[in-house]
Amino acid sequence: MFKINENYMRLQGSYLFSTIAKKVSAYSEANPDANIIRLGIGDVTQPIAPSIIKAMHSAVDEMADAETFHGYAPDLGYDFLRSAIAAEYKSRGCDISANDIFVSDGAKCDSGNIQEIFSADSRIAVCDPVYPVYVDSNVMAGRSGEWDPEKGCYKNIIYMPCTEENAFAPEFPKEDPDVIYLCYPNNPTGAAITKPALQEWVDYANRIGAVILYDAAYEAYITEENVPHSIYECEDAKTCAIEIRSFSKNAGFTGVRLGFTVVPAELKSDGVALRDLWARRHGTKYNGAPYIIQKAGAAVFSPEGQAEIKAQVGYYMNNAKYIYNGLKEAGYTVYGGVNAPYIWLKTPDQMTSWDFFDYLLEELNIVGTPGSGFGAAGEGFFRLTAFGTFEKTKEAIDRITKH
Ligand code: MLT
Repeated sequence: MFKINENYMRLQGSYLFSTIAKKVSAYSEANPDANIIRLGIGDVTQPIAPSIIKAMHSAVDEMADAETFHGYAPDLGYDFLRSAIAAEYKSRGCDISANDIFVSDGAKCDSGNIQEIFSADSRIAVCDPVYPVYVDSNVMAGRSGEWDPEKGCYKNIIYMPCTEENAFAPEFPKEDPDVIYLCYPNNPTGAAITKPALQEWVDYANRIGAVILYDAAYEAYITEENVPHSIYECEDAKTCAIEIRSFSKNAGFTGVRLGFTVVPAELKSDGVALRDLWARRHGTKYNGAPYIIQKAGAAVFSPEGQAEIKAQVGYYMNNAKYIYNGLKEAGYTVYGGVNAPYIWLKTPDQMTSWDFFDYLLEELNIVGTPGSGFGAAGEGFFRLTAFGTFEKTKEAIDRITKH
């Protein structure tokens, strides 16, 4: 008789955003006239910018001609895209070789898959609250240990609480981890990290021999000067950090799928380069992101593409400002929204995160994301995304503040 991967039995419920989608669709079926505004999952609403669409169209046309047709993509990515990404790093003062850039179908897959190149007994450290993919992928791989229902956490995972008291900036854990997940600008709290503070993490990781898995999916939303766009802006980061980036949030590729991961050749364990392991995994399990999509990705780095996506990011950040200011004026305690497209608010009247979710959905027909879905330390908080249209965002905030 076949046996299942028992680790899956340790997963708590379904994936957060699937649970929310099911709840919303049940409510919507029962209340077909409800005008629901979705500010839950961080999915973009603005169309892909014109110069990027143009590049995509022209790549589609190339596929229609035997002379310019492309079959399997190189499994690590086309040189034209890897070089464009390397040039973007260079413009920020980061010396990243195109050879160390691995193009993929998105940051979610990379952040879930990257744990495969570490030993099964690696101790992982995560922020709490945290993007659930980091934890769940390690549960599936058997690194989490048992679930502790009282504490609401896994016994073998090191949690680094991000609370109001520490301004949502985690402290170094008491036990030394092997692998540290950091996401800045942060999902879900919207907090940012300064360059000196990130340098401390890099120095710490180099000192204890840990790897930082740095998720920089939201770097395009940084507005403040002293906030780094890449961990490689820090000294000696190449010997301790892997960086994961996305085209979803900066260029609207959520439905198109494109991302990349940087694994510097300098990052080694006992002389073995992690870069080579990730290349081996990519080659075995992945056939490369589609040519059409990589062409569109390269257009993101063109001067027109850069100007257009800057305007789009500005549009979403205007939403963030509206949410932040509107809620604050109405007496809510709010965080984030300055260097990130997420607003992290304290639930009113000490409501639990899920009670507030139900209240917003049922009374005001607004969907958000309960903070406790991101971890025990998220209880009593709630996340709203700035990725809606301005009109819907405004209406949602007006509904909340006028109720
Ligand atoms: C989120 O809402 O946290 C993100 O959109 C999820 C994702 O990027 O996978």
